[in-house]
Amino acid sequence: TDDLIEQAKAILRRNDRGGYTVPTHGLYPFQWNWDSCLSALGFSHFDEERAWTEIDTLFANQWPDGMVPHIVFHEEDDGYFPGPDVWRTGRPVPTSGITQPPVAGFAVRRLVDRARDPELAADRARALLPKIHAWHEWFYRCRDPQGTGLVAIIHPWESGRDNSVDWDDVFERVPTDGVEPFSRRDIQHANPSHRPTQAQYERYIWLVQRFRSLGWDNTKLHDASPFQVVDPGFNAILIRSCSDLADLAERFELGEIAAQARAFAERGVAAMEALWSDAMGQYLCQDRTTGKLIQSPSIAGLLAGFAELPSPRAAAIAKRLTLLGEQVDYLVPSHDPSQPAFDSLRYWRGPVWLIVNYMIADGLTRSGQASVAQRIIADSLRLIEQSGFAEYYDPHTAEPCGGDQFTWTAAIVIELLS
Ligand code: DGY
Repeated sequence: TDDLIEQAKAILRRNDRGGYTVPTHGLYPFQWNWDSCLSALGFSHFDEERAWTEIDTLFANQWPDGMVPHIVFHEEDDGYFPGPDVWRTGRPVPTSGITQPPVAGFAVRRLVDRARDPELAADRARALLPKIHAWHEWFYRCRDPQGTGLVAIIHPWESGRDNSVDWDDVFERVPTDGVEPFSRRDIQHANPSHRPTQAQYERYIWLVQRFRSLGWDNTKLHDASPFQVVDPGFNAILIRSCSDLADLAERFELGEIAAQARAFAERGVAAMEALWSDAMGQYLCQDRTTGKLIQSPSIAGLLAGFAELPSPRAAAIAKRLTLLGEQVDYLVPSHDPSQPAFDSLRYWRGPVWLIVNYMIADGLTRSGQASVAQRIIADSLRLIEQSGFAEYYDPHTAEPCGGDQFTWTAAIVIELLS
């Protein structure tokens, strides 16, 4: 155990670029939004100051409208595509123009709850709270213009689950004409059979060009996007962050933020019911353009358990996980292995990701589903012991996939073992 923690700390230090960490050397040479917030959890066990700085640096690059971008390009590095010259968002420190799962509210609350230096924690949290709340307000204003209580993502990269099976049908609607020629860099750093396909990349870039042509104006992008998907995992993260932020705001006597954040969370929990599928026994994504649920049993519907859900729903998620656990050696596969589109090696179409395991286990523990949660944690640690600190893993064989020496994988190991 001590040895694993030491190895994990060494990875965090190696990927530390000063005020931020890179997810991994080579493949992802900048600061990524949810990577940073979850990596802060790892730092907090041995360097609280550094943990806060990780989140501060991200929020220093928040947009005036409240959005927190998914990538901050602190330094030039032509080993990544698409770089700042493709995004052209016009920010002082270049950033991408889309966002990522809002785990910051959750992470900050966790840092405060277990602070060994409560004064430092109170100072830093108090400064971050209004910024995180502004991001949440941005979500409900710009990504839920009809006021449904649930937000849509407008690009698969926003979900963090870039090439999930969930997006396949909606992607039929995303054209590729007018996509400027590009050369991918990801497949020079990682095995191409672990990565998204060229056809997917063309659509990722078409969406970027479309949004860029609208000047990255978030009052327009949602309605203009042919890709508008309501993701239950993404919304659960937002709901959890809103309710964690509400708790913190109450503690710090920030009454207005507390009331608004609580209202977002409560409305969100109620609205989640629209994504429930009795037939699949889990939550599903919704195609906002057609209003239909997407019949794709992915990990998004299980990550939903990260929010505080009605207890029959949490029990149903635990049951789904138990069934999946009979099909794989390592929970949680990012897609149902009994489905034809399942691919045990390809990014989010099957492999196991430690950060998602952590969030699902955390939510289920809170909902009283401890035994499944324990299996998820035990499987996660077995993966590390067998295959090191990879980006993701084959749920049947534990084969390490994608990048290695991965920051957030290491951070979660510290979090689980400390
Ligand atoms: C990538 O480049 O693969 C990232 O996941 C996009 O954020």
